[in-house]
Amino acid sequence: MDRDTYRSLIGRFATGVTVVTTNVGGRLHGMTANAVCSLSLDPLQLLVCVDRGSNCYIQMQGAEVFGVSILSADQEEISNVFARSTEPTEGSLPGVEHRLGRLGAPLIENALAHLECRITERISGGDHIIVIGDVVAGEVVRDGEPLLFYGGRYARLAG
Ligand SMILES: Cc1cc2nc3c(=O)[nH]c(=O)nc-3n(C[C@H](O)[C@H](O)[C@H](O)COP(=O)(O)O)c2cc1C
Repeated sequence: MDRDTYRSLIGRFATGVTVVTTNVGGRLHGMTANAVCSLSLDPLQLLVCVDRGSNCYIQMQGAEVFGVSILSADQEEISNVFARSTEPTEGSLPGVEHRLGRLGAPLIENALAHLECRITERISGGDHIIVIGDVVAGEVVRDGEPLLFYGGRYARLAG
């Protein structure tokens, strides 16, 4: 199968949209990610797939923890900000309101929910790596509609 066919097929799998964040020695970084999946309940674990060509990949090599902020339907612009490749920045995520979580990873303000994970494994997966983390903290920030990604574009819940 060719790449475009695969993309159009897997694009029919609707997902939420998150920002995966890291803090490596005070250098903060965020990346928009929908390849995020709950992995295990015992222990509590989730995984994120990270492109080897991304700055996030480089950050993940040195990171001990990462954050996941689940975006709301009105945070499309924030998703676009973190879908652009940007170098990590000393002490901040420029232009986006955030705070540091219990483990030190940045968390996006006004997201629907935050999770904080301690990295337990990095597994090779083709041109990505699978980063597995123990979920050690998190909170529902507010009620609201999620931002969705479907068919290669943003979408919202119907009704
Ligand atoms: C909706 C959406 C979902 C994405 N999901 C992922 C993902 O799960 N993993 C990934 O590596 N890149 C994903 N990307 C692409 C990255 O956000 C993009 O390559 C980004 O520029 C990487 O930034 P960085 O190089 O600063 O880390 C996604 C982009 C969008 C718009």
